[in-house]
Amino acid sequence: MQATWSSVEEYLVEKVGAADAALSEALRNSAASGLPAIQVAPNEGKLLMMLALLTGARRILEIGALGGYSAVWLARALPADGVLITLECNERHAAVARDNVARAGLSDRVEIRLGAALEILPILEREGRGPFDLIFIDADKQSNAEYFDWAIRLGRPGSVIVVDNVVRSGAVVDAETADESVRGVRRFLDRLATEPRVIATALQTVGSKGYDGFAIAILRGGGAG
Ligand code: SAH
Ligand code: DHB
Ligand code: MG
Repeated sequence: MQATWSSVEEYLVEKVGAADAALSEALRNSAASGLPAIQVAPNEGKLLMMLALLTGARRILEIGALGGYSAVWLARALPADGVLITLECNERHAAVARDNVARAGLSDRVEIRLGAALEILPILEREGRGPFDLIFIDADKQSNAEYFDWAIRLGRPGSVIVVDNVVRSGAVVDAETADESVRGVRRFLDRLATEPRVIATALQTVGSKGYDGFAIAILRGGGAG
């Protein structure tokens, strides 16, 4: 099925216009720099941009920048005075992200913070950088539950939280798994299940990256009640 998933993705990406010169350039540059090709698929990137547009996002937080591919998508939804703060602990990844964001003409809207997310998040809070209208969680899966708690803390009523990679080829249903990433995803979903402050759903996806999925949550108290 993988070949079909990839060709259908390619077909849909062309039909919905989820690729252009700047994005392709970012992917080429990331690959040439030796980064793993684990960025969001183009159609997921475009969904992120659309969610940011729907929420009228002016402040976006991303956890896990890699080469800045999803950051370019998200930052494109921002008004000229908007800001995306993206957290990245790998210096080489952060450098490539900085380069790709600059090439996409978005440096004025994107702030890349180098360091471990769990160390930077409290700093962002102290600096009063929130509340964030949209938070995209896409770093080490072990800490997803903690990132989710921070997203709630740094959000506001109506904020959207997207958590990537919650299916992991179906491994997510294995309660006995020794895989720390899968355990992290399950711990996050357990948190989600008992969290009264959000309205949430989770979707399975197939495509060039195989079989995975993402969760979306809205913080209560906004239009969603
Ligand atoms: N959002 C990117 C993909 C991110 S891949 C995109 O779709 O384009 C995950 C990234 O999270 C990697 O670059 C990895 O270095 C980073 N990361 C892993 N653990 C982290 C941590 N504790 N703090 C900050 N970044 C982390
Ligand atoms: C991995 C991380 C991701 O963010 C992703 O979208 C796919 C895979 C990983 O660490 O394997
Ligand atoms: Mg991901």
